Amino acid sequence: MLDRHEFLEKRGLVLTVAILITVAIGGIVEIAPLFYLESTIEKVKGVRPYTPLELAGRNIYVREGCYVCHSQMVRPLRDEVERYGHYSLAAESMYDHPFQWGSKRSGPDLARVGGKYSDSWQRQHLIDPRSVVPESIMPPYKFLDEKPLDYSLVENWLKANRAVGVPYTDEMVENAGADLAAQVDPFSENYDAFMARYPGALVRDFDGDPRRITEMDAIIAYLQVLGTMVDFSTYEPEENYR
Ligand code: HEC
Repeated sequence: MLDRHEFLEKRGLVLTVAILITVAIGGIVEIAPLFYLESTIEKVKGVRPYTPLELAGRNIYVREGCYVCHSQMVRPLRDEVERYGHYSLAAESMYDHPFQWGSKRSGPDLARVGGKYSDSWQRQHLIDPRSVVPESIMPPYKFLDEKPLDYSLVENWLKANRAVGVPYTDEMVENAGADLAAQVDPFSENYDAFMARYPGALVRDFDGDPRRITEMDAIIAYLQVLGTMVDFSTYEPEENYR
């Protein structure tokens, strides 16, 4: 065997061809199944594209680099599941472009933070983290509460996501601005149309100031939806994914 290998090792070109063939076999084994598998992501009930307001909040989350300290992926390990809840499903981040799994946890995982605290806790925590968690090392983000949300480009945000595969319809794009405003006002005329487009969305004034839409409204709307789209009391993994 070793003798025969010597034949290869002494001939650079033959060795190169042999390496290429070996690597190609490995590549085919990994890549070929992707062509006939319908999807590598299990379809899960409840997962919907972000509302325009949630998307605005997500943009702020990315802009402020929250992912530098926070992950958004509960791993299927006992300690994580006991602390944060059901492990994350691929489908839960299928509309995240780019995904926010993160690689470091200076603060806790946020994949299931939605509904864990009230809006006013979230607001107070972002304005001054140490006023609610004295030992916190999280920086304050008071300006989010003061800055009006600029959503003049909201239609483009939806279109950009659509270009990478998020199924926003033309109707959703056209109504993006109105839908964004409708989510912070339970009495708006657009309420029913908005709820039909984004079933299960939370509609309320998130930052406690109904007179204006701030960046705080957007980031809290985003935080409160994280990990809440799938109802895990009824969720059953498909055969292939168990
Ligand atoms: C320098 C690191 C750091 C950055 C940057 C950071 N955080 Fe945090 N965050 C923490 C730490 C540490 C905690 C835990 C202590 C606490 O609750 O304040 C935390 C806690 C939280 C919690 C409560 C989580 C829970 O389950 O109790 C939320 C929500 C949160 N951060 C949101 C954000 C958002 C939104 C941003 C970006 C605007 C952000 N964080 C940026 C470090 C950070």
